[in-house]
Amino acid sequence: MDFNITLIPGDGIGPEIVAEAVKVLNKTGEIYHASFHFTKILMGGCSIDKYGVPLTDEALQTAKSSDAVLLGAVGGNTDTSPWYKLPPEKRPEAGLLAIRKGLGLYANLRPALLFDELKAACPLKESTGEKGFDFLIMRELTGGLYFGKRETVVKDGKRVAMDTLTYSEDEIRRIAVRAFEVARKRRRKVTSVDKANVLDSSRLWRSVTAEVAKDYPDVELSNMLVDNCAMQIVKDPAQFDVILTENMFGDILSDEASMVTGSLGMLPSASLGAGKFGLYEPSHGSAPDIAGLDVANPIATIMSAAMLLRYSLDMNEAADSVENAVKSVLADGYRTGDIMSEGKQKVGCHEMGDLICERIK
Ligand code: IPM
Ligand code: MG
Repeated sequence: MDFNITLIPGDGIGPEIVAEAVKVLNKTGEIYHASFHFTKILMGGCSIDKYGVPLTDEALQTAKSSDAVLLGAVGGNTDTSPWYKLPPEKRPEAGLLAIRKGLGLYANLRPALLFDELKAACPLKESTGEKGFDFLIMRELTGGLYFGKRETVVKDGKRVAMDTLTYSEDEIRRIAVRAFEVARKRRRKVTSVDKANVLDSSRLWRSVTAEVAKDYPDVELSNMLVDNCAMQIVKDPAQFDVILTENMFGDILSDEASMVTGSLGMLPSASLGAGKFGLYEPSHGSAPDIAGLDVANPIATIMSAAMLLRYSLDMNEAADSVENAVKSVLADGYRTGDIMSEGKQKVGCHEMGDLICERIK
């Protein structure tokens, strides 16, 4: 089997972590008889430096015509980087939003799993970590505040800024369907998270989700307010199976979810549209402060590559083998700095990639 994969190394630690995930993909290709043809495109700050825009039409077309996209991270230090002196639609993150929208990737899956081996790195109460947890955030990715009308104007001599949060019932329905479908393959529980005590968009979200639930009588639906959910994730994360939520809430809750798994460096993600095509990226950012130092944790990107194998290429066994290789490296006591604990062996980004490759069977 031949597959075309678009690579977007991006900015900061992006190139280092993507390089490790490419090594892993090539290793699975050897074992599972697939060849991957990689095409690199620029996105984010590096694209601004070269072309003056965070994503060119050509780059978007390249991504569109491939089987899947693997992304590192985009963006720089928002206080010091010259990219943030540009108008908002020219900044690195605008490239990320443009590619999500341009490829129709409305469903963002962010699994939060506490590995047994990382219980010591879990910042929650010991008893909570011991119990373990395994949930998935289904984040709506192409609507809401991120894509609503926004402007900053001067009114009566004062600056006023506005962002709008809009959802149509069709946008809510299709993401809710995705959540129920994935819940069927897990523990059959969907917690829909909203702010229905304040927001109209949330009230529509709740009513459309309840309609969708009628087609899934085997899946349990409950509703939770987002502030409560933020609290429940630290109090009792084991209660969750699939968390279904809108774009902004999903952004915030998924950072929290990744941290309770031990580190931001552990959480992969898949962004999917209607078909098999998808874009895969770690949930964390570009960490410009540690870029180029070979200390970044490549596991979230490697686990994203596993999701790519599973969801876009139907290579389930290969995906399992990558996930097992990650577990085995952790069981053997290797840690990058972010998940380091006493008595373990500290390794860099590159070595972590090698150790995982060696264990792919
Ligand atoms: C994420 C990131 C992005 C987002 C940023 C970089 C625009 O935080 O993927 O979670 O908010 O979606
Ligand atoms: Mg985020």
